[in-house]
Amino acid sequence: MQPHHLLFALLFGSIQCAPLSSPSSDLLRSLNLSVDELGATVFSLIYGTPLMNFYQLAAGTLTSVGPNFIGHRNTTATASTKNVVRPNVDTIYGTAATDLSATDLVLVVPPMDADRFYLFALYDPYGDNFATIGSVAASKPGKYLLRSSESNCDDDCEGYQGCITFPTPIGTILVRIEVKNNGTDVAEVNSYFSKVSLTPINPRKSSLPALSLADFDTLSNNTAVSTLELTARLESRSPPETADFQAAVPGILALAGISNGVYTKPASVNLTHASELVNASAAAFTNAPGNYPSFGNGWSILNSSYSGTFESGTAIIPRALTATALYLQNQAANALYPTLGATQLSLTDSEAYVFTFSGKPPVASDGFWSVTMYDDAGYLVPNDVDTYAVGDRSNITFPSGDLVYGSGAKDGSFQVLVQDANVPPPSNWTANWLPAPSGGGDFTVTFRLYAPTTGASDGSYAYPVVTKGDAITA
Ligand SMILES: *[C@@H]1O[C@H](CO)[C@@H](O)[C@H](O)[C@H]1NC(C)=O
Ligand SMILES: *[C@@H]1O[C@H](CO)[C@@H](O)[C@H](O)[C@H]1NC(C)=O
Ligand SMILES: *[C@@H]1O[C@H](CO)[C@@H](O)[C@H](O)[C@H]1NC(C)=O
Ligand SMILES: *[C@@H]1O[C@H](CO)[C@@H](O)[C@H](O)[C@H]1NC(C)=O
Ligand SMILES: *[C@@H]1O[C@H](CO)[C@@H](O)[C@H](O)[C@H]1NC(C)=O
Ligand SMILES: *[C@@H]1O[C@H](CO)[C@@H](O)[C@H](O)[C@H]1NC(C)=O
Ligand SMILES: *[C@@H]1O[C@H](CO)[C@@H](O)[C@H](O)[C@H]1NC(C)=O
Ligand SMILES: *[C@@H]1O[C@H](CO)[C@@H](O)[C@H](O)[C@H]1NC(C)=O
Ligand SMILES: *[C@@H]1O[C@H](CO)[C@@H](O)[C@H](O)[C@H]1NC(C)=O
Repeated sequence: MQPHHLLFALLFGSIQCAPLSSPSSDLLRSLNLSVDELGATVFSLIYGTPLMNFYQLAAGTLTSVGPNFIGHRNTTATASTKNVVRPNVDTIYGTAATDLSATDLVLVVPPMDADRFYLFALYDPYGDNFATIGSVAASKPGKYLLRSSESNCDDDCEGYQGCITFPTPIGTILVRIEVKNNGTDVAEVNSYFSKVSLTPINPRKSSLPALSLADFDTLSNNTAVSTLELTARLESRSPPETADFQAAVPGILALAGISNGVYTKPASVNLTHASELVNASAAAFTNAPGNYPSFGNGWSILNSSYSGTFESGTAIIPRALTATALYLQNQAANALYPTLGATQLSLTDSEAYVFTFSGKPPVASDGFWSVTMYDDAGYLVPNDVDTYAVGDRSNITFPSGDLVYGSGAKDGSFQVLVQDANVPPPSNWTANWLPAPSGGGDFTVTFRLYAPTTGASDGSYAYPVVTKGDAITA
């Protein structure tokens, strides 16, 4: 080796081995991660996981309508909906991938009828719902000014209902408008959407690259590598949001091999091992007391302090878990998502689950509830009766045959049947039947309570008792 090469190697080596700044090493230690390239890689994988979900959503939106445009579906989700995991079938979605680096945006929220649940939820790309306009918050219709943290809301807000600062230059807006029935109300919701708009104003020069499909080109086929590649590519446009994280995160990402928009795996790091440690961190969080408080009868819920919000991006483990399970979750005041058990449900085609509800789930008059079926990939389950969910807008009946939500209906116990999509139950069960994947197998159900009232989380409502038995057939 030439002397100057040796010198370079020593210098380069000494740069690489320089101790991490103390905010960086303290942050790794607080998460029980080693202060080295492996620990930094585990951190970066957890930190960057939601960006894979952002990619899934943004790539679709950028392909169809480009950035800063609210594209909307014109029907509720179906089994062919693949751009989000666990879509609801209660609302029609509109989505935008936003890029506020070189422009501000004017969002127009149209007036809607009084009993209509609606939400314009604003997220950073990690899925943190930092602001919401909607029926629960009793927001006013009109124009809202949206800005990035580089600009500020103190000036020029006259004439707007509000001014909202995005904590990161890129992000998403997810609009959800309740569909009361799958007939004429779909047209009503579409007419609201036709009055929603997002318009760029105040253009300015930016040193940041514009959000585009190129950001997602040729990602590795390996999930860990692609997560780290995406974290590198989006780093400048999705920076940490608190001073603590701004001091700690860049050093950790650099130690993991993320710099100047590119990921280069450090030679010492075994990514399979790193992924196992990511899973161990997730399991430690899931099993720690208080993170999934129980609602009784096997139902639990992610601690509401993490429902859609993650302490300005510092709660990276629940943020990653939420992104994987239910990206773009709502805050607890807008919706609750109790889950059944820690594991997936599973049936053969000769078995069924019966959910025995103690009574109507507690939601406000403009709220609603549903139980939706998902296959093991998180998508809706195809079936001949077009039932992806049951809830207050289904024609569910009490055992007497009376409608649970008929005019003048009383409260009381009723049952929902979860059974193979190809094993139809007797006709008095049809409206109460939630079809499971045909041929048996694993699945999950998501219970959603929109605009929940206090009974939903203070222990006064008894959650459904779930029992497994034989399929119910004629
Ligand atoms: C780290 O480990 C300690 C001791 O096992 C535990 O009390 C703590 O909850 C862990 N922290 C995290 C973030 O996993
Ligand atoms: C939704 O859009 C498609 C394609 O433009 C159109 O064919 C369909 O009729 C629309 N459906 C509704 C309910 O508006
Ligand atoms: C990913 O896999 C596909 C099919 O196996 C292959 O064609 C493609 O080149 C791979 N992409 C990368 C970036 O490795
Ligand atoms: C990488 O880690 C995995 C899981 O810990 C292990 O099975 C594998 O042997 C390791 N690979 C190398 C090259 O050390
Ligand atoms: C981590 O957990 C996920 C989800 O359960 C699983 O698919 C993956 O194989 C696990 N990774 C490793 C390296 O064990
Ligand atoms: C939710 O987490 C917070 C903060 O960690 C904790 O104080 C609270 O007790 C937890 N809630 C429940 C119901 O366990
Ligand atoms: C709504 O109705 C249309 C046609 O009438 C059907 O194709 C679609 O699957 C239905 N959607 C749901 C969620 O039932
Ligand atoms: C409920 O019944 C009414 C009246 O028969 C019907 O118009 C409506 O489509 C039904 N709703 C569902 C979700 O099946
Ligand atoms: C259907 O009828 C059976 C037999 O009478 C009864 O046990 C069951 O509760 C009914 N199911 C519903 C959903 O009404």
